[in-house]
Amino acid sequence: MKLATTTRRSFLTKTSTAAAALWLSPRSARAADARVEVLLDEPIGTIAPELYGHFAEHLGGVVYDGIWVGEGSKIPNQQGIRTALVEHLRRIRASVIRWPGGCFADSYDWRDGIGPRASRPRRTNFWIDTSRPTLPNGAPSYEPNEFGTVEFARFCRLAGAQPYLAANLRSLPARDFYQWVEFCNSPAGSTTLAETRAAQGEREPLGIRLWGVGNESWGCGGDFKPQDYASEFRRFTSWVPGYGAPLRYVASGPNAGEIDWTRGFFHALVEKGTQQLERVHSWGLHHYSWNVSSGRTQDWEKGKGDALAFSVEEWYELLRDADKVEGLIKDHWTAMGEVDTRHRVKLAVDEWGAWHRPGTEAHPTHLLGQGSTLRDAVLAGLTLDTFNRHADKVAMANVAQLVNCLQALFVAHEDKFVTTPTFHVFEMYAAHQEGEAVRAVWNAPSLTYSRAGQPATFWGLAGSVSKKGKELTLTAVNPHVSEAREAEIVFRGGTIAACRARVLTDSDLHAHNSFDRPDAVRPVDAPARVSGATVAFRFPPASVVRLTATLA
Ligand code: AHR
Repeated sequence: MKLATTTRRSFLTKTSTAAAALWLSPRSARAADARVEVLLDEPIGTIAPELYGHFAEHLGGVVYDGIWVGEGSKIPNQQGIRTALVEHLRRIRASVIRWPGGCFADSYDWRDGIGPRASRPRRTNFWIDTSRPTLPNGAPSYEPNEFGTVEFARFCRLAGAQPYLAANLRSLPARDFYQWVEFCNSPAGSTTLAETRAAQGEREPLGIRLWGVGNESWGCGGDFKPQDYASEFRRFTSWVPGYGAPLRYVASGPNAGEIDWTRGFFHALVEKGTQQLERVHSWGLHHYSWNVSSGRTQDWEKGKGDALAFSVEEWYELLRDADKVEGLIKDHWTAMGEVDTRHRVKLAVDEWGAWHRPGTEAHPTHLLGQGSTLRDAVLAGLTLDTFNRHADKVAMANVAQLVNCLQALFVAHEDKFVTTPTFHVFEMYAAHQEGEAVRAVWNAPSLTYSRAGQPATFWGLAGSVSKKGKELTLTAVNPHVSEAREAEIVFRGGTIAACRARVLTDSDLHAHNSFDRPDAVRPVDAPARVSGATVAFRFPPASVVRLTATLA
């Protein structure tokens, strides 16, 4: 479906030469309507590569069909893992992958997924849906356990990412947690579990550092009260040898704005002394963007919209929902600071993304699978920019989920594989990893749209900036569906020698990639005009942009 605005923007083409001619502001263009002041001498913090993290759950088509195709498969694979997936993860410098859930984690017994594959037990999956077809191995309703700890560790190794395991706190005792760590990390030949690991071809320790202690413990992870979860957290983490790998525990944090969960946990945790804070590496925050009802409902089902067919109002509503993440980071950070006054515990936004109504999944086995458009890419840019701007507070973030589920970067079925617009955003933003985030002031006129018949506003241009030696990376989102933003970007404290741009947009807000049209949405290069410390650039409507500038 094309919008009325299409004609205004149909000049955008897919070729970088044409793009170059059109995006470079002509000298006669009207004065800039946006101004960005980049304060190079005001550092925020180092952008942890882990902000660009992923999440893979045994849910629908994520693991089976998405990641694991099996060693005997005709689909190109390495040790049973889809080759196209690992190659693309290397391209975006995937830093960390969370596994095996999600809600699945609190019903998963890691022992089911080790040892000879042929003798592993089949279990009922947390996400069982018997109304859906199953794959030949029974997934996703029945868990075949073909993909377990060692397969996941190999996947991470192939992808160049760090593993982050989520432990079962609801249905297994603390003993199973520390023994899972023992299976993964105990030295070669030291324990029976190390020998079991070696029998699977992994003699040396896997050295897994990141461990989630439960998942959504306020809900599917046990329906705990925060005080009770704090006791469980203390019990689970009281004695866990790391075998040389410094263990970093991620505690199960709040659902979006539930500040009482944060307050309740932190106050209860330190009832045994403030040294307990040292056990918490980060506090998991989950934030999904789903409500496009313009305030008409908060109902989880009724508030959602279609992934592919949406109105202009729903475009803005989804972005508005996503934009709440900034307030969530600030609010939970402040609440954590009431107890953790030195802020040694950071935030891990270990589930985030768009969650649309079902019906656009690529295959019926892909539970929670959905189409992914330019709108989702803009949402991703907006969210990653927010994390960069709070690099001092956010230690990790994991988009939900990697493949065939929610805001996936990839869609895969059997031998077909395609990247989504969200993948391109991750590729464009990878340059921020390990950069020093610096403060920038974004001044652009707010946009206005009709929200349930009333005028509503949303910011006109926002982004983030990081610095690595002489290289500066500025990424930004223009959320306006039809108006470009002429911007003048002033780099305070430096002179720019050169600047180039990369732009992801389309004349159709609903543009998306498919198995038939895998490159329908992809970024193109564009020039930017430099004069001393100033860069002039025209941010096209509905776009995600990266500027790469070199300091003189
Ligand atoms: O990502 C899908 C589900 O959303 C996860 O399993 C759960 O943690 C969250 O509610």
